[in-house]
Amino acid sequence: MKKGTCILAYSGGLDTSVCIRWIIENYDLDVIACVVDVGQERVDTLDAIQQKALDIGAIQSLVLDVRDEFAQDYVALSLMTNGMYENKYPLVSALSRPLISKRLVALAKELDAEYIAHGCTGKGNDQVRFETSIAALDPDITILGPVREWELTSRDKAMDYAEKHGIPVPTTKVSPYSIDDNMTGRAIECGVLEDPNVAPPEDVYTITQDPKRVDAPDEEIVTLTFKEGLPVAINGQQMDLTALIEEMNAIAGPHGVGRIDMIENRLIGVKSREIYEAPGMMALITAHKALEELTLERETMHFKLGLEQQWSQLVYFGKWFSPLKLAIDAFMASTQRYVTGDVRLSLYRGNCVAVGRTSPYSLYDFGLATYDDSDQFNHTAAKGFMELYSLPIKVWSQVQSGALPNTRKDKIE
Ligand code: ARG
Repeated sequence: MKKGTCILAYSGGLDTSVCIRWIIENYDLDVIACVVDVGQERVDTLDAIQQKALDIGAIQSLVLDVRDEFAQDYVALSLMTNGMYENKYPLVSALSRPLISKRLVALAKELDAEYIAHGCTGKGNDQVRFETSIAALDPDITILGPVREWELTSRDKAMDYAEKHGIPVPTTKVSPYSIDDNMTGRAIECGVLEDPNVAPPEDVYTITQDPKRVDAPDEEIVTLTFKEGLPVAINGQQMDLTALIEEMNAIAGPHGVGRIDMIENRLIGVKSREIYEAPGMMALITAHKALEELTLERETMHFKLGLEQQWSQLVYFGKWFSPLKLAIDAFMASTQRYVTGDVRLSLYRGNCVAVGRTSPYSLYDFGLATYDDSDQFNHTAAKGFMELYSLPIKVWSQVQSGALPNTRKDKIE
């Protein structure tokens, strides 16, 4: 009888390498390892990672380059939304999981596999994102989370298991951090970072440089061009979104832009401490917001701010493929029609600020805004407006002023 088949989301790291062997031993399944390339940094070549999975016992080992799809269908939505969980974290890991899930589900269909496995722990958000996304895309598939089940509760135990089964292990026995990364940035946790009172050591950072160092670069001005809510050029040079995000990381990283130290509320209820570095995303979102300030009508902008929060929470909580998230996507897209123009960013010693913006659709009207002689604002109309605008408050005050502390009346009595 044909054995069952399991598609494993494979990274080449210790946990998912152990997963291959563990699934074979404990579930008696054929394992197909699949690396989904969303722009993560690699210690090994893809060929070496592929071969490693086969050596450990996978019957097939695949690498899928989905960087462009990731940029265009996932990161782009987050840029238009200014996606930021708890107003602080640009959703790095949360953005990649739905796409990885989508690819695993497609592969399972294509290769007739009944199982999908991931290497997430039972304490994190990523298991939720994988399993909710997979359930949305294929409600019938069975999901395995070996790391949640096995008795290899510490990194050392996983190392011992690996050594016993001839699985190549990283040369350093104790790598202090757990890292997830993709083209939008890096997330770093564990080790000394688990004490929220300890400042992150410099060695957690690899794509940003210390803004305090003596040879930190001078101020750099970068012009970003946006078309309908998405960046399309840097300093006048057009490029596709994948290249643009990578280029923005390369420009903002040396200025130490995009370092984030955060205590965040995970979906499963635990507060955790995470360090992020997302130089490109933070710079792009700063620029995008600056252009929205110029081009979005007031009420749309205020409403959007609230929905940005809601969208970010849904995405962080693993609901990428959900009706509410899809509906908010449609709202976001409709707001971006006139978010077209140029923004000048100043990058300097950890700071990234917009210092100039222009748009053919700018709603900023000099004649209305100026305080000089060319003023066209109707000051007489303002007087009548004040009268009507404050009318309900006036009536309320006349009848119920007792609700107000320190009124004139209070003082007289
Ligand atoms: N806390 C982040 C999130 O939930 C990152 C998760 C992965 N982090 C890691 N260092 N392995 O999106």
